[in-house]
Amino acid sequence: MQNRLTTLLKITYPVIQGGMAWTSDAVLAAAVSNAGGAGIIGSGGRTVEWVRAEIAKAQSLTQKPFGVNIMLMAPNVQEIIVAVCQAQVAFVTTGAGNPVPFIPQLHAAGVKVIPVVPSVKLAKRVVAAGVDALVIEGMEGGGHIGTQTTMALLTNVLREAYPVPVLAAGGIADGRGLAAALLMGADGVQMGTRFLVTQESPAHAKAKAAIVAATDTDSAVTGFSRTGRGVRCLKNPFTEAYHAKEIAGVPDAELDKFATGTNRLGILEGDLVQGTVMCGESLNAITDIPTCQEVMEKLVAEARVTLKKAAALNI
Ligand SMILES: Cc1cc2nc3c(=O)[nH]c(=O)nc-3n(C[C@H](O)[C@H](O)[C@H](O)COP(=O)(O)O)c2cc1C
Repeated sequence: MQNRLTTLLKITYPVIQGGMAWTSDAVLAAAVSNAGGAGIIGSGGRTVEWVRAEIAKAQSLTQKPFGVNIMLMAPNVQEIIVAVCQAQVAFVTTGAGNPVPFIPQLHAAGVKVIPVVPSVKLAKRVVAAGVDALVIEGMEGGGHIGTQTTMALLTNVLREAYPVPVLAAGGIADGRGLAAALLMGADGVQMGTRFLVTQESPAHAKAKAAIVAATDTDSAVTGFSRTGRGVRCLKNPFTEAYHAKEIAGVPDAELDKFATGTNRLGILEGDLVQGTVMCGESLNAITDIPTCQEVMEKLVAEARVTLKKAAALNI
């Protein structure tokens, strides 16, 4: 499976693992890279010391390229960018903010820049600014989401050719999803939840088991009523309590306080009552806890079958 994305990132399959705050560490990222995709260390909520240590650890675990996800609103964003440049990480993905001012610094260090965007407008803006690739992320995905579905984004963004690879994210959890994204004109996919539920992921066993047990209607979006955007996670007593507060018109500051620390509590410490477990909504496809290598092999095999079936359609 070679195309301009695999060439750009020097990977075997057009698949990257989404940056995931608290859970995409060096071990997970290196496992995805060793399996032929590209793993990503999530720097959201982390200190620069942690990021430097995880980059060094990933470099010791794989010879293959991997990336770092940078949340641009983070107070230590500049320090993290310096760390990434000094370590000559292959690429960064960026979220939560405008990546354009940071592109020259990253490019000067040889780091490729791949922003995650939720709309045609932002896709065009970052391409005009000279990014190396971009991820369009639909609202089926886990974590902070925009307002368009992945299918709508693929339809809207890829009506025209882009000079750089475009990856699709949000609700892609199997080989049919990979094949569909390729057929829609994307160059590859980014998957979060599928890689969260793997042997190498540091997520708590209870969080992994809850995702395996969950099905299509088991995710919820918190915060939507406040901003028109929100955070997709597993439905649980925390999300019910949060929604009750939203409906009651509880002030934003109080809601923020209520949510503070809950990601780590749910996903790393396994508190499924007071914590949150961010995940996408393609939950029926996640029925096991395989290794990243197994995920990749099955994904690629399924995608090949699906693409062959599509090619055989006599239309
Ligand atoms: C637990 C979790 C944490 C996430 N944290 C981040 C993050 O820190 N930065 C970011 O850009 N995206 C984050 N995301 C989004 C993922 O990178 C990815 O785009 C998304 O999971 C894709 O949808 P999927 O989960 O359906 O595969 C997170 C997703 C999950 C599930």
